[in-house]
Amino acid sequence: MSGATDGLPSTPGAQQGSAPLVVFDPRLGPATAAEDPLSPDARQRVRERAAEVIARYPRPRSALMPLLYLVQAEQGYVSADGIRLVAEILGLTTAEVAAVVTFYTMYRRRPCGAYVVGVCTNTLCAILGGDAIFQALQDHLGIGNGETTEDGMVTLEHIECNAACDYAPVVMVNWEFFDNQTVESARELVDRLRAGDPPMPTRGAPLKTHTEVSRILAGFPDDLADVGPSAGPASLAGLELARRRGESAPPRPGASS
Ligand code: FES
Repeated sequence: MSGATDGLPSTPGAQQGSAPLVVFDPRLGPATAAEDPLSPDARQRVRERAAEVIARYPRPRSALMPLLYLVQAEQGYVSADGIRLVAEILGLTTAEVAAVVTFYTMYRRRPCGAYVVGVCTNTLCAILGGDAIFQALQDHLGIGNGETTEDGMVTLEHIECNAACDYAPVVMVNWEFFDNQTVESARELVDRLRAGDPPMPTRGAPLKTHTEVSRILAGFPDDLADVGPSAGPASLAGLELARRRGESAPPRPGASS
């Protein structure tokens, strides 16, 4: 089905021909679009929501990143077939779309669990316990970096600094913060995730599954962004100090006062 049929733009670049699209994952090796196709219902949902997203932008190709999240919301990751569908909808080449998918780590290229548990093992978190937490969770769950528990509930991975160093060591679950973790609290956290009893993050909204979060990131909010604790005192310490001293940031050049 062409993009024009869906009321979406159709350009020469959208025609990908019949050559099989092959994407490569360092762990899984090559995968083709035919190996893991989106279901007809999923394709239809992506097309319908894509039309809504594209209408928010001056040019269709600007909607590339939200559309990839739409695919991820359907499959739990962005498959080769998903790349092909997004390219077709936006009139891009599959190479252009694959370049974005492989650049950003929040796009997953293989199936993952309902909860992606990221342990920060960047320098500050690592020396304050992140390395020990990551090792303990690997042992506790019986999986390695990037792997998923057999029940499909938890994918474990180590992540780079998430700008939460003031609460190190930090564990992220589907990009929500769990601050000041210990080996014990991290074990309890994953146990509750696997039991279907997700705890509230230290900061941020209540946890959603990975596919639900992908739908939100695609531009379909759940209106819970302001629910739950916001930035903590440690993150705001500099701001508080500046207020007490009567300091403020200089005006932006060219900004009207
Ligand atoms: S080093 Fe872990 S959040 Fe910065």
